[in-house]
Amino acid sequence: MLTLTLATFVPVIIAILIPWLATPAHALPSLIKLTSYAPVAAECPSSGLTRDAIGLCSGEAEYRTNRSKVASQHLREWFTAVNKDMPEKDRFEIEKGVEMPVIGLASSGGGIGSMVNNAGLVQAWDNRDSSSVKSNMKGFYQSISYHAGTSTGAWLLGG
Ligand SMILES: *[C@@H]1O[C@H](CO)[C@@H](O)[C@H](O)[C@H]1NC(C)=O
Repeated sequence: MLTLTLATFVPVIIAILIPWLATPAHALPSLIKLTSYAPVAAECPSSGLTRDAIGLCSGEAEYRTNRSKVASQHLREWFTAVNKDMPEKDRFEIEKGVEMPVIGLASSGGGIGSMVNNAGLVQAWDNRDSSSVKSNMKGFYQSISYHAGTSTGAWLLGG
């Protein structure tokens, strides 16, 4: 019969403890961050951790400028495509140069069912998807500037 005593675990404890003790102090917080949610002492950066909530930060503003050119064009194309069978009098044309809305999509959580549902939505909306999914929403996904998710909605996004 195998008897487990503290001595049984000494080699394991040493195998974990020696690399941990040998780690330089500056690398310790990131090492601990990978293995634990417990708070640890860490050096604060010399610059602030937050910024005033006045407008967008420069990187985000640049992304928005870049993205809006692409997203607006896709929204115009999608809107024109879904409206082509409408009678002329009901048609609403989006002219070039008109400022288009910034569209964000949020995928909810709710277990695997939610993730599959959200994935189906992306498949139906994404014009890069070559499946047989027929949808008037095909191409709308390219009009979106932000796609966020929570819980299983975030799994879909790889997060
Ligand atoms: C915006 O577009 C420019 C030019 O293509 C590119 O160099 C830059 O990295 C882009 N910035 C962002 C935040 O996407």
